[in-house]
Amino acid sequence: MTTTQPSPTAAGSGANASEAFRASSERRGSAATSTERADRLIRRTLEAIHQVIREEEVTYPEFQAVKRWLMDVGEGGEWPLFLDVFIEHEVEKVAAKTQHGSSGTIEGPYYLPGQQRLGSLATLPMRPDEKGETLVFSGRVRDLDGRPLAGAEIDFWQADADGYYSGFAPHLPDGNLRGVIVTDDEGRFAITTIKPAPYRIPTDGPTGAMIAAAGWHPWRPAHLHLMVRAGGHRRITTQLYFAGGEWLDSDVASATKDELVLDPRQQSDGSWRTVYDFVLEPA
Ligand code: DHB
Ligand code: FE
Repeated sequence: MTTTQPSPTAAGSGANASEAFRASSERRGSAATSTERADRLIRRTLEAIHQVIREEEVTYPEFQAVKRWLMDVGEGGEWPLFLDVFIEHEVEKVAAKTQHGSSGTIEGPYYLPGQQRLGSLATLPMRPDEKGETLVFSGRVRDLDGRPLAGAEIDFWQADADGYYSGFAPHLPDGNLRGVIVTDDEGRFAITTIKPAPYRIPTDGPTGAMIAAAGWHPWRPAHLHLMVRAGGHRRITTQLYFAGGEWLDSDVASATKDELVLDPRQQSDGSWRTVYDFVLEPA
């Protein structure tokens, strides 16, 4: 079955991503930075740019092209998209140095809080004719000592089988393929969903133009997004990928890790099953 659908634009996704980020940073609070730290970080960032200009002998036309491009990224509302693809992975690696238990990776721009709460055996909200192969993703949430965490929350979001996220693509119903799954008394959960498609960074905006100018590809491998929370424990934000998936070795967002790759098995009914356990450290 083919349906025609309005394709989400970079400007549309970017505007929604900007709004979602503003709301979430208000919720989480922003870091107070000392003058000393601000001086050091700003100075070192500028020095790194100055060094590239000197070493590469950047010309006036190149400087002006960059200036125009930066203006376009801002006016197009694409900063969340750009920063989460090209910068966030390094911040996450720094955070991971002090994190024990399951691995995390980037959050990306498409998390939306306040989704429907579901039981431990859950089917994600989806359209009656949702395209894609059925995937049952199950596992357990435990602490570092192996004790099950009952009532842990798996805040889950993913793209559909065309690679689009609800809330950021006008043709998708709100909350589609999103939900908060709560683990049972033994920390268990099982989520029925569909296999997502690889995600392509919108190519119609300035981020897409930059990628094209540099001759790169705009793809992320297919992935599931999760935040796992339990009282008294440090939250994990992560993604899970699929073994053998396209773009796994060349993710434009550099956010894959070997331990985050699932290897689902196809069942006789055609559906796919996969198991993944999470370990949370104390907060
Ligand atoms: C972007 C999109 C994603 O789905 C993701 O996981 C990370 C980044 C982006 O377009 O910036
Ligand atoms: Fe994503």
